[in-house]
Amino acid sequence: MSKLAGKVAVITGGNSGIGLATARLFKEEGATVVINARNEDRRQQVGAELGAVVDDIIPADVSRVEELERFFRTVGERYGKIDILFLNAGVAYFMPLESIDEETFDKQFNINVKGVFFGVQKALPYLREGASVLFTTSVVNQMGMATSNVYAATKAAVRSLARSLSAELIGQGIRVNAISPGPIETPIFGKMGMNDEQLQQMAQGIVSQVPLARFGKPEEVAKLALFIASDDSSFIVGTEIEVDGGMASL
Ligand SMILES: NC(=O)c1ccc[n+]([C@@H]2O[C@H](COP(=O)([O-])OP(=O)(O)OC[C@H]3O[C@@H](n4cnc5c(N)ncnc54)[C@H](OP(=O)(O)O)[C@@H]3O)[C@@H](O)[C@H]2O)c1
Repeated sequence: MSKLAGKVAVITGGNSGIGLATARLFKEEGATVVINARNEDRRQQVGAELGAVVDDIIPADVSRVEELERFFRTVGERYGKIDILFLNAGVAYFMPLESIDEETFDKQFNINVKGVFFGVQKALPYLREGASVLFTTSVVNQMGMATSNVYAATKAAVRSLARSLSAELIGQGIRVNAISPGPIETPIFGKMGMNDEQLQQMAQGIVSQVPLARFGKPEEVAKLALFIASDDSSFIVGTEIEVDGGMASL
């Protein structure tokens, strides 16, 4: 039987990588899937590629609170209550301490942390009692990985939000959890501004730290997202679960 039949799922960052694999799986499992796109141009671009994969694409830059408010209002008007909220959009810049400027710092915090906090706040009027809220953190939030500095801090903040917002929303029957991927093969690495050689070096360095000796696939993260989103995880709340090939624990 479909695990998400009749459910409305909202996924940020649903046009790429982990979010896209999750959108596909949620759709296969019977959910109505709504994703955002950073802006109207991106919505049209993404719509041409993903028209058949998701049910709706609504523009919203997650780092802008008024856009999040408008996004969730539109979702509410079109679909009523939200059963699953996967706040997954994120950016990562792995750079040495000396190279990080204020703009790069702010960008990561604004998208990765502010986007999650205000995402929950603005979605709240539309969340159904019993809703499952998921965040994407990262294993680097519990490791001391060189050059992960600001990014790792953003994900530690999100792990903390999964706990504190759980405590705040549990009375409304809303469960909040985080999934914490290790290295996953997605376009995120190509967006870090590194050349091919630097990317290859980084990938080799990362794989050498993964006990399963490979990058994970977005579909492997999507399966965990499905578990957390569905009633199969009904006794799991306020926690962070790794999907990392053993990177954080072995
Ligand atoms: N891949 C990994 O190894 C890994 C490991 C641990 C955690 N994560 C986390 O997993 C999540 C998904 O990453 P991914 O690897 O799937 O990367 P990805 O393929 O680059 O996807 C990131 C998504 O976030 C969206 N996004 C970025 N900035 C946005 C903004 N300001 N407003 C709205 N949407 C925005 C992107 O939209 P555009 O396509 O328009 O840019 C894209 O859809 C992120 O939170 C990331 O930190 C990834």
